[in-house]
Amino acid sequence: MTSPVPSIAATESISQFELSGQYAAIGAEVRAAVERVLASQQLVLGQEGAALEKELSAFCSVAHGIGVASGTDALILALRACSIYAGDEVLIPTLTFVATGSAVSALGAKPVFADVDRVTLNLDVADVRRRITAKTKAIIAVHLHGLAADMDPLREIAAERRIPLIEDNAQAIGASYKGRRTGSLGDIASISFYPTKNLGAAGDGGMIVTNSADLDARLRTLRNHGQASRYISTEPGWNSRLDEIQAAILRVKLRHLVEWQKARQVNAAKYGKLLANVPGISTPITPAGYEHVFHQYTIRCNRRDALQKFLADGKIGSTIYYPVPLHLQPLYASLGHKPGDFPNAEHVAGEILSLPMYPELTEEKISRVAAAVAEFAQS
Ligand SMILES: Cc1ncc(COP(=O)(O)O)c(C=O)c1O
Repeated sequence: MTSPVPSIAATESISQFELSGQYAAIGAEVRAAVERVLASQQLVLGQEGAALEKELSAFCSVAHGIGVASGTDALILALRACSIYAGDEVLIPTLTFVATGSAVSALGAKPVFADVDRVTLNLDVADVRRRITAKTKAIIAVHLHGLAADMDPLREIAAERRIPLIEDNAQAIGASYKGRRTGSLGDIASISFYPTKNLGAAGDGGMIVTNSADLDARLRTLRNHGQASRYISTEPGWNSRLDEIQAAILRVKLRHLVEWQKARQVNAAKYGKLLANVPGISTPITPAGYEHVFHQYTIRCNRRDALQKFLADGKIGSTIYYPVPLHLQPLYASLGHKPGDFPNAEHVAGEILSLPMYPELTEEKISRVAAAVAEFAQS
C-alpha cells in the first residue's frame, strides 16, 4: 500500500526528542554548578558525587548510591558485585537496548533471553519461568520506556532460586510499582544518565543503587581499580567514576525531575485522549498500581514503517526502540536463535513507534503529531 501525502501543514519540524528547552530553563543553575566545581578543582570523587549519591538513593528510597561512568558500567559492576563470572547465565528480556546484553557478555557470562509481554513490552513472567535454568545466576528486569516490569512475581522467582534480581533502570527513574519507586524493587539497580534519559547528564554517567551495605562496599572497590583501601587492590576492578562536573549538573536536574515527570505524564494524557479512538493505533497503557514516567511514548501500529515515513514526510520525528530484539542481533548469532523463538518481542518490534516526547513539548505540537497519526490511520 502506498502512503498518503500528509495534508497537515508541515511548518516547523518536530523532533522526537530535544534538550534545548530544558537548557533554556535551567541554564543559569547548570552554569553556576559547573563554576562551583571548577572553582573547587575537586574533579573526581568529591563532595558533589557524594551528595548526588545521597540525594538520588534517597529519591529511590534505598540506602546506597554509587556513581559510575555510564549506565552500561553500572550494569557491568552491578553484575560483578553480584558475583557474576565467565560461564554464568543471566536472564534478560530480548527486547531492550543492547547494553543490557553486552554488560552480561562483557563479563564472559551468557545472556539467556526471555520474551516480553505484548502490551507492557516488559518481561513475560511465564516465559521467564520457562527459560530459567540451573545455571542462571541472576535476572535483569528492564523497565522499558518508563514503565516498571512486573516485579513481584520476578522477586518470587529470584527468591525461590536464591539468585539476585537486578533492575536495569536506565529508562524509568522516578517510575513506581505498587507505591515503590524503581531502583528499590530488586536487590540492586543500575541507572543511566545518558543525556536523553529522564535525568540526563551533560555527557555520560551512571549510578548503582542498593540497600545492601556489602554490595555498596564491593562496588566502591570495583569502580576504583579494585582498591579496597588506597593503593591496596583486592580484586580486578575498573576505572569507572562519575566526575564532579556531571554530578553537580545532575544535582541541579534532580531538583526538577518530578516536575519534568509530571509534564511528560500530562503530555502522554493529551496524546492518549487524541489517539484513543484512532483505528489501528494502540496507545501505551499504565496498569493499575503503576506510575509510568514516559521516557518514551510508544504506540503500536501494524503499518508502522509506512506510518513512520508519513510522519517524516510531515517533518515529525519518531524512533523505533528497538527494531531488532537481542536474540536476532548479529552480536548473538553464536547463540543460535532463529526468527520465531521469541514471538511476542518479534511481533511488537515490527509495530512499535515512539512519538515525540519530552517535558517541554507543546500542546500545539502534540495536536499536530496526533492529527498526523490519525490522518495516516484513516487513509
Ligand atoms: C535499557 C538500557 N540499559 C542500559 C543502557 C546503557 O546506559 P548508558 O548509555 O548510560 O551506558 C541504556 C541507555 O543507553 C538503556 O536504555
